[in-house]
Amino acid sequence: MKLFIDSGNIKDFESLVPLGIIDGATTNPSLLAKEGGDPRDIVKKICGLVQGPVSAEVVATDAAGMIAEGRSLATIDDHVVVKVPFTRDGMKALKVLSGEGLRVNVTLIFSPTQALFAAKVGAAYVSPFVGRLDDIASDGMRLVQEIATIFKHYAFPTEILVASVRSPMHIVEAALMGADVCTCPATVLDACFKHPLTDIGLEKFLKDWEKVQGAKV
Ligand code: E4P
Repeated sequence: MKLFIDSGNIKDFESLVPLGIIDGATTNPSLLAKEGGDPRDIVKKICGLVQGPVSAEVVATDAAGMIAEGRSLATIDDHVVVKVPFTRDGMKALKVLSGEGLRVNVTLIFSPTQALFAAKVGAAYVSPFVGRLDDIASDGMRLVQEIATIFKHYAFPTEILVASVRSPMHIVEAALMGADVCTCPATVLDACFKHPLTDIGLEKFLKDWEKVQGAKV
């Protein structure tokens, strides 16, 4: 399963990309607005750091606006994937942009029918938002399972990009379900590096080693 960083913060990329586990990135208007500065510059920098797919979202809400914005976002870097929301206009934009050969990530997916429609029209990725469903006492990961089953039946090439991830267990469940991508905030990825038994084990190894070294002197 590919791991993307869900962030607009360059420091997150500088800290996680050297670990070798990162395959791409997702951004959204909220994440980029938080950083300040020119969002296009940030997206360009992220592309340079991850050297993989980087989703950049349109903010227009009409199809013509989304298409123009999508084309423009795609000129930032070859790694840019245009992100459009699942709306009627978003679907029209998806049809045109994917027809032009651009990769499109259809975002704000909360139902299997939305994912099915986006796949039919040529989305490169669909982004089910698992955390936001969990937040309203719905089962976010069940949605991922349903989309995975549907895509398998029809051999859609569209990748399932699990989004709105809140904890390492979302990563585990996404991998168990065979999701193609899981996009995670840096805090969630950082949490996966913490295990008390690893820390205790390492401390003991080093102490035992020191004892022997001390005895030799
Ligand atoms: C995905 O592409 C979105 O940027 C993101 O996962 C949304 O997550 P949130 O629900 O934590 O805002």
